[in-house]
Amino acid sequence: MGLPLDGKEIIVGITGGIAAYKSCELVRGLRENGASVSVVMTDAACRFVSPLTFSALSGREARAELFEPHGITHIDITARADAFIVAPATANIIGKAANGIADDLLSTMLMAAKCPVLFAPAMNCRMFDNPALQANLKILRDRGVLFVGPSVGPMACNEFGLGRMSEPADILRAAVSLFKEKTLSGVRVLVSAGPTFEDLDPVRFIGNRSTGRMGFAVAKEALSRGAEVTLICGPAALVPPPGVKAIAVRSAREMAKAALEAFSNADMAIMAAAVSDFAPAEYSASKIKKEGLQNYSLKLIKTPDILSAFGKDKKKGQVVVGFAAETDDAGPNALKKLKEKNADIIAANIIGENTGFGCLTNRLYIYDRKGLVMDTGLVSKDEAAGRLLDVAAGLLQLKEIKSKGRSAK
Ligand SMILES: Cc1cc2nc3c(=O)[nH]c(=O)nc-3n(C[C@H](O)[C@H](O)[C@H](O)COP(=O)(O)O)c2cc1C
Repeated sequence: MGLPLDGKEIIVGITGGIAAYKSCELVRGLRENGASVSVVMTDAACRFVSPLTFSALSGREARAELFEPHGITHIDITARADAFIVAPATANIIGKAANGIADDLLSTMLMAAKCPVLFAPAMNCRMFDNPALQANLKILRDRGVLFVGPSVGPMACNEFGLGRMSEPADILRAAVSLFKEKTLSGVRVLVSAGPTFEDLDPVRFIGNRSTGRMGFAVAKEALSRGAEVTLICGPAALVPPPGVKAIAVRSAREMAKAALEAFSNADMAIMAAAVSDFAPAEYSASKIKKEGLQNYSLKLIKTPDILSAFGKDKKKGQVVVGFAAETDDAGPNALKKLKEKNADIIAANIIGENTGFGCLTNRLYIYDRKGLVMDTGLVSKDEAAGRLLDVAAGLLQLKEIKSKGRSAK
């Protein structure tokens, strides 16, 4: 079988940030996946990692000089490139690209690029927050430039926040998805992700251990297949993938309201959120005090059952996918849930050390009305999302959807 990037010419631009060292891994990954890679560095980037390292990893001379003795060669490479990735992308290169500045080799090549351009921003969280930077990102996004990350996490400067470059594996995945067939173009996919928080008082809530990773992975995968994605997301420390319509909610009730509003427009709904089954019957506007109390009992009431509501409202052609996180008897419980809620697919997972909540991997047992369709084995959540979409897309009436004439994004 061929490699996903076989025959692809990819330019990798490296700019002057600490994360430049991570791009060594990216260049390697691109080549291992079949791409031919040309590395272009800014002067600042050369102060972080030697061009020699990138020359060795790419198998081609890494370049930084605009004025070379042999004449104009930079336009040559951009003319035959299939993709142009800038990782890390500093605040500076984002500003230059947004405003048409071409004062070194990389920014000049970006001006000449006709292929898809993918930026992986990386910077201190306060720099990322800067209104000028945000305005420049918007200009580039509106112009069709694609982005991967940044993510939230610890920074080299000992701060914590949004601005960390995405991991090389995520940038690689985004690069591969540039060439993925857009099998879901014109399809509207509704995804829910994350936990819900049910407030008791202004300080406390009932929540759960969901991080939102599984639902975000589904949203990213659907987007990379060309779908129009709405992501309804409970409180999660993840940044919605650029390109999805993200709706942030807190409680099960808010999630149900947003989900029911969006469902009528969706061709497929994949409900990966861990929605609380119960919420406190009463909310105390002031902090509940312990003084004078030996015990404290909470009265809980059931929250709206979103999957059942979808099962009832479902119109011909709509595909409804639910998740069942179980500690025991995943199979029988999944099938019971599927029938009771009139879903089309249930993805069951056992909560364990490497599966379920709070980890990067998962193992899904995917059921349809007839029984088990697929056991994904223990895989990354991204891969599990891909397998789930393979199964769910098989139930879509793609011909009818496409005949409605919706265009891909
Ligand atoms: C140690 C160090 C780390 C830096 N890290 C970043 C960074 O992560 N992101 C960023 O936008 N700028 C960072 N800078 C600032 C850039 O290097 C500076 O803005 C430079 O002009 C960028 O040039 P370039 O975009 O041409 O590579 C850093 C500077 C230093 C000294």
